[in-house]
Amino acid sequence: MTIPTPQRPRHFLDLKDHSKETLRLILDLSRDIKAALAAGERPQLLKDKVLAMIFERESTRTRVSFDVGMRQLGGQTLMLTGSEMQLAREETIADTARVMSRYVDAIMIRILSHDDLLELAGAATVPVINGLTRVSHPCQTLADIQTFEEHRGPISEATVAWVGDSNNVLASWVHAAKIFGCKLRIGVPEEYKPDQGLMADIKAAGDRVELGTDPREAVEGVDLVIADTWVSMGDTDAKERRRVLNPYRVDSKLMQNASSDALFMHCLPAHRGDEVTDEVIDGKQSVVFDEAENRLHVQKAILAWVFGIESL
Ligand code: CP
Ligand code: NVA
Repeated sequence: MTIPTPQRPRHFLDLKDHSKETLRLILDLSRDIKAALAAGERPQLLKDKVLAMIFERESTRTRVSFDVGMRQLGGQTLMLTGSEMQLAREETIADTARVMSRYVDAIMIRILSHDDLLELAGAATVPVINGLTRVSHPCQTLADIQTFEEHRGPISEATVAWVGDSNNVLASWVHAAKIFGCKLRIGVPEEYKPDQGLMADIKAAGDRVELGTDPREAVEGVDLVIADTWVSMGDTDAKERRRVLNPYRVDSKLMQNASSDALFMHCLPAHRGDEVTDEVIDGKQSVVFDEAENRLHVQKAILAWVFGIESL
């Protein structure tokens, strides 16, 4: 008798794990799910499925959009925090994954350590979704791409500028540039230049990604300017970061260097007056709330995809 090898679950841990075709499929599904919702339809794609959501850190958008998204798809959610689980008393991530896989149909986790995410996914027999680590934030970048394409057309033809810190959202944008073929110009200070892992991804992206330190050069003529918080979850040097990153604030003067119809994005939460001025984030080039909304649609598509559903 042969014992069948269990199929590896469909995880969604990083954009770079997937082909352009898979990510395009998820984006198309997201577009269709969004249109269905606008037409008053709620396709029950995940009826009776249970998603466990583990949050080791704060969240507004990720928490609410996954929760509402699951409900709209006919499923249910379980909200957990690391501090109230036995993880806080040194149960291993792998054992937690093995146990939870016996109860729930999928796990979404926000955890700072990317290694812990990989350990969870390695031991889980149900799909695991990355809801942000210190290393990447793939759900965010996919929502950003959907938002750009709704406003301006194919991302593959766009030039995008990233201004500020070298962080998790930037990493997912580097992965996206390599996969989708858009140009990405990075303007970050020497003090906060990408770490070794991200540098390797930048190198792998070839001439699609340009790394520099001048915010004006980075935004010159681009179609999209992206900023993010100067102090990410887990950073401990807030005062020093605000000092070093002060010249990297996206204000209307900096936006003038971009193409006249450039969009502005920020994954939120924004720290108004630090990385972006009110004038820019509230201005007509800003699409930050469309971005936030698209988290809901794109994550419903990711959820459907991890369960093997590829169209409506
Ligand atoms: N952009 C984002 O992930 O927001 P939250 O931290 O509120 O989930
Ligand atoms: N770079 C930010 C993103 C928040 C959604 C952080 O990690 O805190």
